[in-house]
Amino acid sequence: MKQIVDEAIQGNFTDKYLIDLWLSRYHMAAVAVGDTVGIFEAAAKGIVNITQLANMLELEAEGVEALTCLLASLGLLNKHYSVVSLTETAKQFLLKNSFVYWGNVLSYTRDTLEYKVVLDAIHSRIIQQSTQISESGNSFSDMWSSGNFEISSAKKFINIMNSTIFVPAMKAVQSNLFNDVKHLLDIGGGSGCFASLFIKKYPHKKATIFEIPQVCDITKSYLKKWRTISQIQLHPGNFFKDEFPYGIDAVLFSNILHDWPIQKVKTLIDKVFNILPNGGRIFIHEMLLNEERNGPLNAAAFNLFMYANYKAQQFTRSELFLLLERAGFYECVEHKTHQDYSIITAIKPSVI
Ligand SMILES: C[S@@+](CC[C@H](N)C(=O)[O-])C[C@H]1O[C@@H](n2cnc3c(N)ncnc32)[C@H](O)[C@@H]1O
Repeated sequence: MKQIVDEAIQGNFTDKYLIDLWLSRYHMAAVAVGDTVGIFEAAAKGIVNITQLANMLELEAEGVEALTCLLASLGLLNKHYSVVSLTETAKQFLLKNSFVYWGNVLSYTRDTLEYKVVLDAIHSRIIQQSTQISESGNSFSDMWSSGNFEISSAKKFINIMNSTIFVPAMKAVQSNLFNDVKHLLDIGGGSGCFASLFIKKYPHKKATIFEIPQVCDITKSYLKKWRTISQIQLHPGNFFKDEFPYGIDAVLFSNILHDWPIQKVKTLIDKVFNILPNGGRIFIHEMLLNEERNGPLNAAAFNLFMYANYKAQQFTRSELFLLLERAGFYECVEHKTHQDYSIITAIKPSVI
C-alpha cells in the first residue's frame, strides 16, 4: 500500500471503466422507474417543465429533476435546465403503444434494490431499504447523524469510499492546486487517502483529518499501511456539533457536501469560513453536473444515487459558487481534475 501511495504521486493510471461500471447500476433502474411512473407518456404530451411533470404525476419535484437528468444523459429525454421533451428513441420504444415497446425488457429490473429505492424516494415514501445500508438496516446518514455506529458497516463503507476516491484524489493532488497550502484540514477524510497523497507530494506541509471518533480508528489503520501516520494529525469530532481546529490555512471537503441537504451544506460552509484566516482557502472536490442539468452521465447517475439514498445531490458549478459567495468567499474557480470530478477553489477575503 505504501508503494501504491508513493507511486500515485507520479502515477498515470485510471479507474475510468470501474467508475462507469459502479454508477451504471442506476441506469436500468432510472429507465424502469420512468416507465412505471409514466414519465415518457407525460413528456409525450409536449414540452413540459419539471414542476409540471411532478404535478401531473404527483411526484416530488426534486426526484423528477434527478430522474430526468439521468434519463437525458442516457439519450431518452431532451432536457435543457428544467425543460423536458422526448427523444426519438423514447418515442419509438418507451411509449406503451409503441410497436416495439421495451417495457417487458425493463420488467426484470423491478426486482432490484436500486429500482425500489428510486421509486420510494420519488414518491416521498419513507425509504424502506437503502442501497447504502449498514448491517442492521440503517442508512449511513442515519448512522452519522445519530452517532450510533456499527464499526463493521463503517469499515465496509470507508473501504468502498477509498476505492472510488483514490484515483480522483490522486489526480486532484497531482494538479498542483495545493502548491500554496501550508496546513490542510481534510474534513470527513475517511480512509485518509487524500491527506496521504497530499503529504506524499508535499512532505514539509501539514495535514489534519477531521473525522467521527469511531471512524478515526479505521482511518488510523489506513494511515499506518500508507506510512503517513506520523505526518498526519487526526482530529476526532462531529462536524455539525464540534469545533474545527484553528491554525490551518485551507480546508478540503471531498465528497462531503453531496451527502447532505442544502441547509446542512450551508452550515458546513459557514463554519469553515469562520475558522479560516483572511486569505485562507476552501477546496471542494465533487463530481459536478453540467449547467443545463442533463449530464454528464456519471455525475447524473451519482446525483440520482445521492437523491434516492440520502435526499441529497450533486451540484453544478454555479450552485456551489452561489453557496460560497453567500458565505463570503470570493474568486470561485472550477478546476477539472479527473473525468467528471472537479475541484472548486475560493478564498476568504483579506478584509471583511
Ligand atoms: C462520503 S464519505 C467521504 C470520505 C472522503 N472525504 C472521500 O472523499 O472519500 C463521508 C465521510 O464523512 C464522514 N462524516 C460523516 N458525518 C460526519 C460528521 N458528522 N462529522 C465528521 N465526519 C463525518 C464519514 O465518516 C465519511 O468518512
